[in-house]
Order: sequence, then C-alpha cells, then structure tokens
Amino acid sequence: MATPMQARAADPAGTARSDAIVEVRDICKRYGDLEALRGINLDFERGKLTTLLGPSGCGKTTLLKIIAGLVPATSGQIRINGRVVTGPGPERAFVFQDFALMPWATVLRNVGFGLELKGVPQAERHRIARHYIGEVGLSGFEEKYPHELSGGMRQRVGIARAFSVNADVLLLDEPFSAVDEQNRRKFQEDLLRLVDKERKTFLFVTHSIEEAVYVSDRIVLLSPRPGRVSQIIEPAIDRTAAPDVIRRDKGYLDVVEEIWQGLRQYAE
Ligand SMILES: Nc1ncnc2c1ncn2[C@@H]1O[C@H](COP(=O)(O)OP(=O)(O)OP(=O)(O)O)[C@@H](O)[C@H]1O
Ligand SMILES: [Mg+2]
Repeated sequence: MATPMQARAADPAGTARSDAIVEVRDICKRYGDLEALRGINLDFERGKLTTLLGPSGCGKTTLLKIIAGLVPATSGQIRINGRVVTGPGPERAFVFQDFALMPWATVLRNVGFGLELKGVPQAERHRIARHYIGEVGLSGFEEKYPHELSGGMRQRVGIARAFSVNADVLLLDEPFSAVDEQNRRKFQEDLLRLVDKERKTFLFVTHSIEEAVYVSDRIVLLSPRPGRVSQIIEPAIDRTAAPDVIRRDKGYLDVVEEIWQGLRQYAE
C-alpha cells in the first residue's frame, strides 16, 4: 500500500540544500517590458525529480532555458556543480517543447548525436543509443526517419537522446505532451524507473497535476505575471506500491486536489 502522503508548504524563497547540483539564485527575467520571472530561488538535488507546475505563460520554459544556458537571465545566477552557468554544457541535457530532431537522420543517429559530437566511436555510440531507444519503447524503429514517426514517438526520441549523453542534469519540458493517455502512464513509470536507476537530477515540466504528483519528489508551483514560486509541495509516495494502488491512494488524491485548489484561481 502507499503510505499517506504529506503536502507541505515550504519556504517559497527556497532553502539551500547542501548536496544541491543545480542552484538557482535570485533569477529574474525580462523580455522587453514583460517581466517573465521574478526572484526565483531553488536548489535541485541528485537523484530527485522536481516538477515545475503552473499556468501557461508563468515562465516554466524560460526558467528551464536559463538553467540550460540557452537564454540569459536579466539578473541572478545559476550554478551547476558549483560552477556559474554562462552557456550550455555537457553536464546538462534537455528536451524542449519545440525541440527539433534532425529530419535527415535516422532514429539511431538522432539518439546518438550528442555522443557523436563528443567523438564517441560509432560502435559504442550505437550500443548506448540502442539501449535508450529500448528504454523509451522504440526498439524496431532505429532506422526510421522523424517524419515516419508520430509526435509522441518523436518526443521519445528526444528523451532517448537526452539520456544517452549521460548528463548529470536532465531538463524535460512537457516531454509527454504529444503522447496518448495509455502510453503516457507507461512513460511515467518508465521515467520513474530511470530516475531510480540513473541517480540524475531531473527538472520536469507538465500541465498535468496527476502526472506531477505521480512522478515528483517535489512540485514547485509557479504563479504568473511575473512568474514566482508560490508553493512547494513534496508528495511522499511509497514507490514500492503498484501504480494502480498509488493512483487510487487517498493521500495521492488529496495532494492532487490540494494542487488543483492552488491553481484554480488561474483558470480562465
Ligand atoms: N523569446 C521571447 N520573447 C518575448 N517574450 C517571451 C519569449 N519567450 C517567452 N516569452 C514570454 O514570457 C512568458 C513566459 O513564457 P514561457 O514560455 O516561459 O511560459 P511557460 O510557463 O513555459 O508556458 P507554457 O505552459 O504555455 O509552455 C510568457 O508571457 C511569454 O509570452
Ligand atoms: Mg512552456
């Protein structure tokens, strides 16, 4: 059985954690007149999955892109393993909403592309790529091209690519948004298995409250205009319980409801 879960409101400013891999300090972001993020302070630990949840436009993608080093912050600092971020780096891998695969390359080559850039020999590259293609349920599609895949399958190629480079930090921006409900549940379970096995730091974005509660060690609720941390919730799920037991657990359902109550004010 799943143990009862506690949702606890934490210090919205975020508390420093000694073993943090990713440190977000006083991040503010403006796009011209638009204030997208204000005063974000968060720490992310190894082996944990944190989900950013909040209404459209609250700055989730912006924060992930700042952490990825793809978008500069207006002020504040990101540190990864103690080093200040000034651009992208090999210790971070990402799957973004608008993430494009190379249309002229097979699934196998797309997944192994990060390794190709690092100069990993072909046999080793293919071995690693095939492993993660299997992990995301795409065995048999190695020689297909992106246009031969569905949107959900393309997202999974992106996930396999992110995993294959063996980065410390994985930034996953709505990686399951194009996946149907039955497969989505399977991927949530696959994701949990990878979190458990790989001991990496996961930052995840979803619009699904249920998905967030199911996969997360911690959920950061963001409020919009400007994007700010409004609440931090840690759903304590007993992961040894069967998925269908967890999904029916009263504690699980209570956390889903509590988050919905926190977000409903932003519904249009
Ligand atoms: N390159 C850009 N130039 C100008 N404004 C931008 C840019 N990127 C994002 N914004 C604005 O910043 C705000 C935050 O956008 P962002 O994409 O980070 O939100 P989000 O939380 O990821 O939303 P969604 O849930 O819809 O993906 C929005 O108001 C958006 O219009
Ligand atoms: Mg987004």
